[in-house]
Amino acid sequence: MSTHIAAQPGQIAPRILLPGDPLRARWIAENFLEGGECYSQVRGMLGYTGTYRGERVSVQGTGMGQPSASIYVNELIREYDVQQLVRVGSCGALTERLKVRDVVLAQAAATDSSMNALRFQSYQYPAVADFGLLRAAARAAEEAQAPHLVGTVFSSDSFYHPRPELTQQVVEYGVVAVEMEAAEIYTLAARYGRQALAVCTVSDHIVTGEETSAQEREQTFADMVTIALDAALA
Ligand code: HPA
Repeated sequence: MSTHIAAQPGQIAPRILLPGDPLRARWIAENFLEGGECYSQVRGMLGYTGTYRGERVSVQGTGMGQPSASIYVNELIREYDVQQLVRVGSCGALTERLKVRDVVLAQAAATDSSMNALRFQSYQYPAVADFGLLRAAARAAEEAQAPHLVGTVFSSDSFYHPRPELTQQVVEYGVVAVEMEAAEIYTLAARYGRQALAVCTVSDHIVTGEETSAQEREQTFADMVTIALDAALA
């Protein structure tokens, strides 16, 4: 057992979906996995393993933000030998190329976080998605005819950003959406030779102010989970 995940060795599958919200982990297990069993409830951060199209898959809540996601991803990789990690979450759109409910496949993640500053000091590290997972997710999104955009996200440490002009500045460099976890997940996957991808639906539009209803969010979330599972199993 690891410090924050109460699973025995072998209880967690090599392929895992990572929602921030632990209740989404339960919802994914109940609606997408066959025979889903809960392996951890430590701090209410639920984790389940089941099968999807006959393959073992796990789903683990990570909490919000890179410090929290980093704890779970470190333990999943180092203690449970997880290989393919696909974040499923929400993001705020920063470009009119996106509408609410669209899916963003995060090819790369810029960040304002101190986590990579602690690692690399004055070096700037490019946190990028695994190409195989990204390609498989793009194909799955095309086949499902789900509106999607492949692009760079901004993994911010602050939801209520004290300096919104900084977010505006990264938009000038092609960033399409803001979320809070991808950069750290990508960096850890790179460090340990694993594959990672973040698939996010647009829950709110920072440029147009458009928002989604709870019911719409659930349907879009379901489309995204299918894309993420297809990518993880490809
Ligand atoms: N900021 C950061 N993360 C988010 C947002 C946002 O506006 N919307 C959804 N996830």
